[in-house]
Amino acid sequence: MKNYKIAVLEGDGIGPEIMAEAIKVLSVIETRNDVSFDLQVAPFGATAYFEVGHPFPESTRTLCDAADAVLKGPVGLSHEESEKIPVDLRPERGAILPLRKHLNTYANFRPVSLPRGLAHFSPLKPEIVGDGIDIVMIRELVGGLYFGAKETGVNDQGLRYVKESLEYDESQIARIVHVAFKQAMRRKRVLHNIHKSNVLKSSVLWNQVLEEIAPSYPEVRVIHMLVDAAATHLCLNPCQFDVMVMENMFGDILSDQGGGILGSLGLMPSACLGDDKAYYEPSHGSAPDIAGRNIGNPYSMIGSVAMMLELSFGMLEESRNVWKAMQSVFAQGFSTPDLSRPGSEVTLINTDAFGDKVVEALLAQSVR
Ligand code: IPM
Ligand code: MG
Repeated sequence: MKNYKIAVLEGDGIGPEIMAEAIKVLSVIETRNDVSFDLQVAPFGATAYFEVGHPFPESTRTLCDAADAVLKGPVGLSHEESEKIPVDLRPERGAILPLRKHLNTYANFRPVSLPRGLAHFSPLKPEIVGDGIDIVMIRELVGGLYFGAKETGVNDQGLRYVKESLEYDESQIARIVHVAFKQAMRRKRVLHNIHKSNVLKSSVLWNQVLEEIAPSYPEVRVIHMLVDAAATHLCLNPCQFDVMVMENMFGDILSDQGGGILGSLGLMPSACLGDDKAYYEPSHGSAPDIAGRNIGNPYSMIGSVAMMLELSFGMLEESRNVWKAMQSVFAQGFSTPDLSRPGSEVTLINTDAFGDKVVEALLAQSVR
C-alpha cells in the first residue's frame, strides 16, 4: 500500500471550514484505493501568529519538508485584525511568500474552468461563454516584484519614497516558460505569452527567453499579448485562450479576473509546483467576513485536492472522479451562496452540505 504524508495547513478565515470538506473527499479516495494518507495538521497564517507567535513556524516548515505534498487553506485577516500583527509577520508576507520561496514552487497552475453545464454561473453572456471556459493560467510564483528588494525612506526633498524592484534572471524565466510549453503540448498547442514589453525591460527579457525556447516546441503556436489587452480579451472573448503564461504579479491579477469571469473566486483551485516539492491551495483569500458561517465554497479546496491527486500522487482517474463529482453537485442544481444570482433556480446549500454531496456523488460512481 502506498502511504503519502500530507502537511495540512488549514489557514485562517474560512480555511478550516473548506479544508474539512477537502479531507472528507480524501477519506473516500483512501477507502477505495490501495493508498493511505497520513494527514499532519500544522499551524500556518494569522492563527499561527496568535497561537505560537509566527505565521510560518519552524515546526510547520519541518513538516512541509518531510511531506509528500502540502495542502494549504487560504490565510489572512480583516484589515482591522491584520493591523494587530507586525507588518512583516502578516500572513501574506510572513507565511505565503516564504512558503513559496522555501519550497521553490515556481510554477503556479491556476485553472480557469467552467464546463458548459456551469456556464450559467458566469456573469458573461451565454454567447460569450459558448461551450464553457477552459483556460490554464501559469503564473511564475517565486520571482518578480513580490520578491524583489524593497526600500523606503525620505528623499533629499524630504518626501517619503518607496522603491521595489522587479528582478528575473534568464534561468528563472526559462524554467517557467518550459513548464508552459509542455502544458501547451498536452493541450491545444497554443500558448498566450502575457507581457508588458512596451514599458517593462523585464518583459523584454522574458519575451527574448521565450522566443529562444520556442523552437524546441515547434508545434506550439505562440501568441504574444500585452497584459492590459489580455484583461480586456478575458472579458470579451475568453474562449480564445487555452494556456497563458505570465510573471508573478500579472498572474496574481489576471487569475483573480479569471475567478470573476467564472462567477466566483470560490471556483479557483491551484497547484504550486517546483522541481522537488508541490503545494496546493485555493487562489483566493480567507474571506474573513463570512468565516465561521458555513457558507464558503469548498470547490477551490476540493479542486486543489483533485490537482494534488493528479500531480503529486499520479492518481489521474480519481482526480477526474473528484472533478466530475463536484460538477454533478452543481448539475443537480445545488451551489454555495457565492454563486447565487438573482432569479436563478439554484438551491443554495452550506459548505458542509456541499462537501457531503460531493462525497455522495463520489460514492455513487462506479470505480473499476
Ligand atoms: C494569491 C494571493 C497571494 C498573492 C497573496 C495572499 C500574497 O493573492 O495567491 O493570488 O498575491 O500571490
Ligand atoms: Mg491573488
